[in-house]
Amino acid sequence: MPAQIGVTGLAVMGANLARNLARNGYTVALHNRSMEKTDALLAKHGDDGDFVRTETLQELVDALEKPRRVLIMVKAGAPVDAVVDQLVPLLEEGDIVIDGGNSHFQDTRRREAALAEKGLHFVGVGVSGGEEGALNGPSIMPGGSEESYKALGPLLEKISAKADDGAPCCAWIGTDGAGHFVKMVHNGIEYADMQVIGEAYDLLRSAAGIEPAEQAKIFGEWNRGELSSFLIEITAEVLAHVDVKTGKPFVDVVVDAAGQKGTGRWTVQSALDLGSPVSGIAESVFARGISSQTAQRAIAQNTLEGHKAEVEVPEGFVEDVRQALYASKLISYAQGLDMLGSAAKEYGWDLKLDQIASLWRAGCIIRADLLKVIMEAYKGSEAPANLLFAPAFVASVGKAVPAWRRVVATAVQLGIPVPVFSSSLAYYDALRAGRLPAALIQGQRDLFGAHTYHRVDAEGTFHTLWGEDRSEISAVDTH
Ligand code: 6PG
Repeated sequence: MPAQIGVTGLAVMGANLARNLARNGYTVALHNRSMEKTDALLAKHGDDGDFVRTETLQELVDALEKPRRVLIMVKAGAPVDAVVDQLVPLLEEGDIVIDGGNSHFQDTRRREAALAEKGLHFVGVGVSGGEEGALNGPSIMPGGSEESYKALGPLLEKISAKADDGAPCCAWIGTDGAGHFVKMVHNGIEYADMQVIGEAYDLLRSAAGIEPAEQAKIFGEWNRGELSSFLIEITAEVLAHVDVKTGKPFVDVVVDAAGQKGTGRWTVQSALDLGSPVSGIAESVFARGISSQTAQRAIAQNTLEGHKAEVEVPEGFVEDVRQALYASKLISYAQGLDMLGSAAKEYGWDLKLDQIASLWRAGCIIRADLLKVIMEAYKGSEAPANLLFAPAFVASVGKAVPAWRRVVATAVQLGIPVPVFSSSLAYYDALRAGRLPAALIQGQRDLFGAHTYHRVDAEGTFHTLWGEDRSEISAVDTH
């Protein structure tokens, strides 16, 4: 029997997706550059379902039913191009090449356009959920042509995670790089979500003196309320873990320099291109950067004055931190989703934010109870211009504001860095401010560069003759 899908690249993610497909009843042709990985997979997990062992890409292609579906699971960047280049001459019109790695969406757009010229489909697919998700049901974000989804969608939906209501956490996101773009923003939100949890931990420890084991209980408790999510759940697990070697809390024996593979950085780079204010996400990427500047941090500890104020940690601090965490987390989601709205306009995608929230409800790293409420907020024709404007969040974030301000103020006075808590509050306040100092900036720009400005009381563009009599001229004809 011909295989319904081929997988090339059998490192952990590729192997687990192949096994997931086989467990769901599909015949899966396997290929890897070196045969050891293929044979190891077959030896260990051959019983998962029907696999076809192939030694070359030609054999892989020959093993597949038409239109052929070939899933590439290799490292993002040049390795994807290398496999695509080898694969393309072996394929026929209508065949589908799928990239399930964390590729940059602009690479996906380029590859999609190049393969479309040859009559082939190239589908960039965002896959979230780590190794475990790939095996048992990830959240899947496919881009590419709508036509390709007809042949590919049913397989992906079958192997995806299912939300509480049974809906598959997989849907066609939009053309060309839309799937990889949405996955990238998912990762940006993931970074911010992890950072706000880190800030909450730091506040509870450094301001309130609560040790990790005790905090594990607090996070466990929080996981039963409105913060319920995968990341809060695993935080409790990490905090409860005691290092076997030393008997110390695990978090105390780990070097406090956070790594990153780049998707958070890409989110911020893309946001800058779009003019999208994802300040919380950006701060979370920068926070990882500062944490990794270990040499500078060592000097700073003995050089820079803190001038910390002697402040009492307010009563009810733990609950205040919980509320600040909730509000900051929501801002990160709001910023990420707002960025998706800007990207949809820029790249011509019809992104459906309710659908995206829906398929993030299970399987992915940012899965959270909150996503159900976010999904509801975007349903219907009257979608809010910003997630924060949805009535449910106007109320819940509004309620958290006093606690949020107290927490940020306490952190600032104690010298505890809370870049996402504080920048999220600044975003919230900037959005709601009646007047922003941007008017002054416009004046400065006009003075030194004749960049012009708009008036609050008249149509048109104006310039003041600063060096002369300071009269104002209509700037329509100045450029
Ligand atoms: C996922 C994750 C995953 C990502 C890791 C590591 O959705 O399953 O986002 O794709 O690669 O979380 O990311 P960093 O190394 O950049 O933290």
